[in-house]
Amino acid sequence: MDDKNRVYIFDTTLRDGEQSPGASLDEKSKLEIARQLAELRVDVIEAGFPVTSPGDAAAVKKIARDVKGPVICALARAVQKDIDIALDSLKPARHPRLHIFIATSEIHRRYKLNKAKDEIVRLAVGAVKYARRHIGEIEFSPEDASRTEPPFLYEVLKNVIDAGATVLNIPDTVGYTTPFEFGSLIKGIFENVPNIQKAIVSVHCHNDLGLAVANSLAAVKFGARQVECTVNGIGERAGNAAMEEIVMALDTRKDIFQNKYTNVRRDQICKTSRLVSSLTGMIVQANKAVVGRNAFTHESGIHQDGLLKLRKTYEIMRPEDVGFGETRLVLGKHSGRHALENRLQKLGYKLSAKELEQVFENFKTLADRKKEVFDEDVVALVDKEIVSAPKSLELVYLSVLAETGKPPRVSLKIKHKSKPLAAEGTGNGPVHAAYQTIDKLLGVKTKLLDYQIRSVTVGEDAQGEVTVKVSAHGNEMAIGQGLSTDVIEASVKAYLDALNKLEHRMARRGTAYGV
Ligand code: KIV
Ligand code: ZN
Repeated sequence: MDDKNRVYIFDTTLRDGEQSPGASLDEKSKLEIARQLAELRVDVIEAGFPVTSPGDAAAVKKIARDVKGPVICALARAVQKDIDIALDSLKPARHPRLHIFIATSEIHRRYKLNKAKDEIVRLAVGAVKYARRHIGEIEFSPEDASRTEPPFLYEVLKNVIDAGATVLNIPDTVGYTTPFEFGSLIKGIFENVPNIQKAIVSVHCHNDLGLAVANSLAAVKFGARQVECTVNGIGERAGNAAMEEIVMALDTRKDIFQNKYTNVRRDQICKTSRLVSSLTGMIVQANKAVVGRNAFTHESGIHQDGLLKLRKTYEIMRPEDVGFGETRLVLGKHSGRHALENRLQKLGYKLSAKELEQVFENFKTLADRKKEVFDEDVVALVDKEIVSAPKSLELVYLSVLAETGKPPRVSLKIKHKSKPLAAEGTGNGPVHAAYQTIDKLLGVKTKLLDYQIRSVTVGEDAQGEVTVKVSAHGNEMAIGQGLSTDVIEASVKAYLDALNKLEHRMARRGTAYGV
């Protein structure tokens, strides 16, 4: 722990995070999350609170045995039984840490523990000394530190360092503090605890007032070297400081934090967030910073325009840096021409200014009715307004032989620009066989992105309407529709309709398509 700029990330998703109402994890899920936390390269994993249940103790042991890289930590009250069970769970760890806590604030001393100050100091020191006989790395937390009288807090900290604690964690247990106040508390600790240089100062903030991240960052500014946090900010009540926000704030604002950094792999952040969300069942709100569905989605026309000119106008982080994928410009009623043109280009369309104007007008009408205009809607608009492809592909004859236990056989005749073409083919199913035969006949390579079928009339002779989304040449995409009482025939018609549009569009641009 020599590099003074390094901020250590202590992840407590599996301990405090699991204390989120409704977020209970089984041993297998805990191990999966711990492995991902190691991939993410957090420095410490608080794997559990072993005395609380045999299941928790077993999960800590399994993580200690199987997860390499981070320090593995277990929580214990300042009670011998807790410490013994936690130490036993940590035995297989290559690099174990024991985390001991006892409450120090007046309200906890009086109403929860019914103990005087000197008794608290005695218990804390006794617990650390006892544990120190068995383990080298001990973290100590004076619970409810932010509501503890500072002089008493200094006294406790001094004594536990003398007893052998190596990391001193300052919890804002009930999320009561504010950034200026918490920063001053950390400053006061450095100024008033004489042996503080022998230990690492850590912080652990809860989010009851929505200030957990801000308080943690204020503490870093005043010398805290470890931040305790959870993935997606899950945890008791309103949760803990969110790991992804701490990491990205330090990364994005190096200017403010004097080049402080973490060892976390930013590109693993979203993957970890999704894993934790799916295993705990705790859905991440859409507007959650860094990892929420909308974190990199822009709706406003002005923002979209600025972004397309220079990303940094409206983006302070790059979504790909946190493993998010691409920035999403949602097309809706606030979007402007520039955003529409950009989307059309991505979909493979190059329209003249006049054509763009025509599509834009219809797009605005559609956007007034629809909350979000999808790529398919844009393609349909262009196909209707601009491209309106002449029919150059036509189905003439189709025969399908499907027998149980045998691959289906298809015999097909089509007309391509009045030229008759015929072939036979096979595939995994009748539709697949027909599509493969058409590809062979036309010499094209396509990808079926979507296939949907719905009944448009009722009764035994109901008509089925098939809609397909087909792409060719990388990102070129077209939607085709076909209607028939025979679903295979409707599927073939839909496919030919999409290919027809693709061919026409490419011909306009002078690009080769197939035959
Ligand atoms: O919030 C808290 O005070 C805790 C301690 C056990 C560190 O979770
Ligand atoms: Zn906590």
